[in-house]
Amino acid sequence: MNEYAAIDGPVSAQDFNPLDQKIQGCPYPYYKAMRSECPVFQAPQTGMFYVTKYDDIRHIKRNPDIFSSNMVLGDRGGIREIDLQYTDILRTYGWEHVQVLQRTDPPAHNRWRQYIDRTFTARRVRELKPYIDEQVHSLIDEWIDQGECEFVHDYCIPLPCKVIADQLGLPSDQYLKLKEWSDAFLEPGGLMCTDKRIIECAWTEIEAQQFFYRVFEDRRKNPRNDIMSSLVNTQVEGEDPLSMHELQNLMHQLITGGNETTTSAISHALWNLMKNPDQMAKLWADPSLVNNFVEEALRFETPILGLFRMVTQDTEIRDVQLPKGSIIFMAYGAANRDEEKFDDGEDLIIDRQNAGAQIAFGMGAHFCPGAMLARQELRSTFEIMIERMEDIQLARPLGELTHDPSIFLHQLTELPIKFKKR
Ligand code: HEM
Repeated sequence: MNEYAAIDGPVSAQDFNPLDQKIQGCPYPYYKAMRSECPVFQAPQTGMFYVTKYDDIRHIKRNPDIFSSNMVLGDRGGIREIDLQYTDILRTYGWEHVQVLQRTDPPAHNRWRQYIDRTFTARRVRELKPYIDEQVHSLIDEWIDQGECEFVHDYCIPLPCKVIADQLGLPSDQYLKLKEWSDAFLEPGGLMCTDKRIIECAWTEIEAQQFFYRVFEDRRKNPRNDIMSSLVNTQVEGEDPLSMHELQNLMHQLITGGNETTTSAISHALWNLMKNPDQMAKLWADPSLVNNFVEEALRFETPILGLFRMVTQDTEIRDVQLPKGSIIFMAYGAANRDEEKFDDGEDLIIDRQNAGAQIAFGMGAHFCPGAMLARQELRSTFEIMIERMEDIQLARPLGELTHDPSIFLHQLTELPIKFKKR
């Protein structure tokens, strides 16, 4: 199967349109063209500068004073009337967005990060392995006897939703609600929404905030052994306790961080194995390769295509002038195939020596705190699939638009599979 099947013929960087849903589904030929023709490329459709080389992203991450995460409404393309309406709804009926964690720079960033770093430590994730394995088995039990399933909705969405709900201390039987909330939090930022949908998202966020408010108040009075209780009751020495505004915005980041990305990672990992049957056969023959495969899968098809930074002072990368106020798109998906870092980067090689150098989880101060949890969900998934299933194939061809619309997320719309039970 040709990975670039969705793209007709050779492309140049100038053909790249970040708002084209077909290109969003398979941006790799454009990323390759950018890396060779103009590694820092300004997309005329959004005005953003795409940074596509591994070392340049490292430079950005090492200089948060010049490339800031602290962006407010409108920084990514001017304040639109609809954004103001969104904020009004939050301000009137809930808690408007404030800059916490992902939207802050060091040293202020540490205030929120120290709470989150306590949650998914290596030890905690090791302890969670039996629980994650159990969740994997129970989801597979639901459809294994049928010999087929729609992998995105029957597996990749529920697994991370259930896990994050349980860890936060939210009812896991309502995982579809969490998914609905997470989608609504993310969609407006993907720049592909209608105004009507943006307002619907604002009301969905209010519903979520009111629910979280009730849970936080409950955990204040009746603490449990879960993350909600620890966020609301822990007080770091010398710091004020987290306010309800901060708590709501941290929830926003944990819910979105814990769901969409892991769903994308698992579904793409399987999709790419099906497109590379020799690699799939190798993995099924030697399950000890699972850990390395997980790194390679994250490198090869990166769940967050890229994230944003704002330039705080005139600067340049590779002689491209970046005036103060410019928005940078750190294209992780492009850097993870950079030929100067990864030999044959356009190929999936499950025993690649340096697969672990992938930057799907970012790097530096904002390095993903959920990385160990996500890795464990991926590892458990493939270890157990190898044990229980074989001969996994696409049940029918996918449509022309394989991915949900977004300029930075990368979500397969569906993945219908058939297989034999082992
Ligand atoms: C395969 C799955 C995942 C991928 C690819 C991923 C990717 C990322 C990336 C690239 C960042 C860096 C953001 C930046 O530089 O601005 C990040 C940060 C973050 N991630 Fe993840 N993530 C994943 C899973 C998770 C999970 C499971 C959770 C929660 C349990 C989570 C929660 C967060 C949070 C809260 C941040 C913000 C950290 C900070 O700004 O200090 N992520 N993630």
